[in-house]
Amino acid sequence: MCGIIGVTGDDGALEVIIDGLHRLEYRGYDSAGVATVRGDGLWRARAADGTHSVEALVTATAGCGGDRTGIGHTRWATHGGPTVENAHPHVDCTGRIALVHNGIIENHAELADALAGAGHRFSSQTDTEVLVHLLETEVAGGAALGDALRAVMSRAVGAYSVVAISADDPELVVAGRRSVPLLVANDDGAGFVASDVSALLGRATRYFALEDDQVAEVRPASLRVTDPDGAEAEPTALSVDPAWDVVAAQKGGYDDFMSKEMHEQPRAIEDTLFDRRDHDGSLVLDELHLGPDDLRAVDKVVVVACGSSYHAGMVAKYAIERWARLPTEVEIASEFRYREPVLHERTLVIGVSQSGETLDTLEALREARRAGTRTLVVSNVVHATMAREADGALYTRAGPEIGVASTKCHVAQIVALEVLALALAQWRGTLGRPAVSLLFDQLHELPELVEETLGRSKEVEAVAAALGGARDYFFIGRHLGYPVALEGALKLKEISYLRAEGYPAGELKHGPLALIEPGTVVVALLDPLREKMTSNVAEAAARGATVVALASDGTPEVAGLAGVEHVLHVPAVPEPMFAPAVQVVPLQLLAYALARRLGNDVDRPRNLAKTVTVE
Ligand code: F6R
Repeated sequence: MCGIIGVTGDDGALEVIIDGLHRLEYRGYDSAGVATVRGDGLWRARAADGTHSVEALVTATAGCGGDRTGIGHTRWATHGGPTVENAHPHVDCTGRIALVHNGIIENHAELADALAGAGHRFSSQTDTEVLVHLLETEVAGGAALGDALRAVMSRAVGAYSVVAISADDPELVVAGRRSVPLLVANDDGAGFVASDVSALLGRATRYFALEDDQVAEVRPASLRVTDPDGAEAEPTALSVDPAWDVVAAQKGGYDDFMSKEMHEQPRAIEDTLFDRRDHDGSLVLDELHLGPDDLRAVDKVVVVACGSSYHAGMVAKYAIERWARLPTEVEIASEFRYREPVLHERTLVIGVSQSGETLDTLEALREARRAGTRTLVVSNVVHATMAREADGALYTRAGPEIGVASTKCHVAQIVALEVLALALAQWRGTLGRPAVSLLFDQLHELPELVEETLGRSKEVEAVAAALGGARDYFFIGRHLGYPVALEGALKLKEISYLRAEGYPAGELKHGPLALIEPGTVVVALLDPLREKMTSNVAEAAARGATVVALASDGTPEVAGLAGVEHVLHVPAVPEPMFAPAVQVVPLQLLAYALARRLGNDVDRPRNLAKTVTVE
C-alpha cells in the first residue's frame, strides 16, 4: 500500500523521487520521505502532514538536490502512527544504510527482540525498522548489500517489498519483493525501482517485474537479478501500455482525479468493449488464454474480490447465472481463503481487481490454483501480479485510475464481466448467436447513456444541497439494485466520512429499520422490482426517513410516490442486466457532491490507500 521509488545515475535524483512520490501518493499519504547518498554519507528528509505529506516533503527539501542516488516513500500506516519518526526511509545504527518498505513483516516483534538484545537502537514503532538493522548486521558481517538483502528476506516473514541504499556503495540501489509488486526499470545511464509503473512513466525505456523472492541490484549501467539461492535470474520484461502515459495520469483541467475519472467512464466502457467481436459476430476474448473447450468444461464459477471490485463481481453473478446458466458464488477475497472452499478442476475462479495487486485477492487466487482450479483475472493493469499468475486475463481498459475511490474502473469491471458472461453463454450454447449479438449491441449503448447521466450532475448537486447536514444514510435496492446500493454506500463513506450502509431492500425490516428516524436519508433504487421497492420506500418514509429515489426516465408516477422527497433520474437502459453501469453514476456524483460540500479531499480520503497490499 505504500509507494516506493528508487533512482540511481540521475543528477536530478531528488526531483525524480519527489515527482514519483506525487504520482504514488494514491498508495498512501500518511507520511513521505526521501534519503539520498550525499558526499560520503546519507542525507534524509521526512514529513508527516496528513493527506498533504508529499507537499510538506517538497517544502522540506526545497533548494536541495544534486545527488545521483536515492530512495523515497509514501506511507500508509500499519505499525506505528503517521508521525515523522515512523516515516520512511529508516536508517541503521551507523546511519549509513537507508531503507524503505511496503507491506508487513509478520515476525517483526521477535526479530526486534533479538536485535535489541544485540544492542541495536530503534527509533520508530514500525515493523520496517527491523529490516534495516538486519541489513546492518549482515553488512557488518562482510556481506555485500544485495547478498545482505537476500539474507534479510530469508528471515523476514510476510508479504512485502523493500528497497535500500548504502553510503558505502553510492551508485547501488537494492530491491526485493515477496507477494507485493515491485518493478525495476532502466534507461541509458540510469536505473530505477518503483512499486508501480506510474512513478516512472516517461523516465525509463525498459521495465521489468521482479518475481517473488528475487533481489535486484540496480546500478546506473547495469541490472542484476538473483533468485533466493543467489543464482542469476531473468526478470520478466514488461511492455508498458501506451494508454498509461503521463498525460493520462494528470488531472487534465478537472479539480480532482475523481471528477476526471467519473467523466472518463464512457470512454472506459468503449475501450473495454473495443474489438471483442469477430467478423462472424461471435465474441472473442483474445487475452483470456482459456479456450472455449476449457470454459465449456466449467461447472461452477467463484468470483473473489474486495470492495468496489466485489460489487462488480456481484453483478457478474446475476449475468453469468442468467445467461450462461452456471452456478456462481461471489466471495470477499479475504474470507474465501480461510474457509476451506470446495473447489475442483471444473471450477473457474475469477479474481476481479482494478490494481491486480490487492493481496487478499491475489492470495485467494493462489489458494484456488493450489486446489487445481483454473483462474482468471479481470484487471485494469496489464502485467499486474494477478494477471501474470492467473491462467487467463480479461483487461478493463480504463487507463490509470488515481483517485482512491474507484469509479471508471468499477464501471469498466461491470462491463467486462458482462462481456465474459455473454462469452460463457455463447461457448456453452445457452444463448444463440443472435441473442448474444443483440445484447452486445445493447452494451454499446452504455457509453452514451453514462454520458447523459453525467450531464445531469446539477440535479444531483441540488439533492446534495438539500440533504444538508444529514449524517446517516441507507442505500437500498433489490436484485441488481442491491450491488449498486452497496457501491453507492461505499463511495459515500469513503470520501464523505458519513455513515452509510447498503442493504437489500427486503432486509431492512429484519433489523436495520430500527435505525431509521427523522433525519436518516434512504437512497432507494426503484428498479428493478419497482412494486416491492415502493413498499420498502413507504416503510422507511413512515419512520421519518428522507427518501431519495433513483428512477429511470419514463416513470412519471415516481414523484407522487408516498414518502419520496427527491428523485434522481437516470436514462432507461435497454437491457436491465446492464443498468448497474448507469445507475451507479448518480451515486458516485452524490458522494462526490456531499464530500466536496464537506471540504474533503476526494482523491485522498483519510485512512485509505489505492492499492491494498496488506492482509
Ligand atoms: C473503493 C475501492 C476499493 C477497491 C478495493 C479492491 O472505491 O477502490 O474498495 O475496490 O480495495 O481493490 P482492487 O480492485 O485494486 O483489487
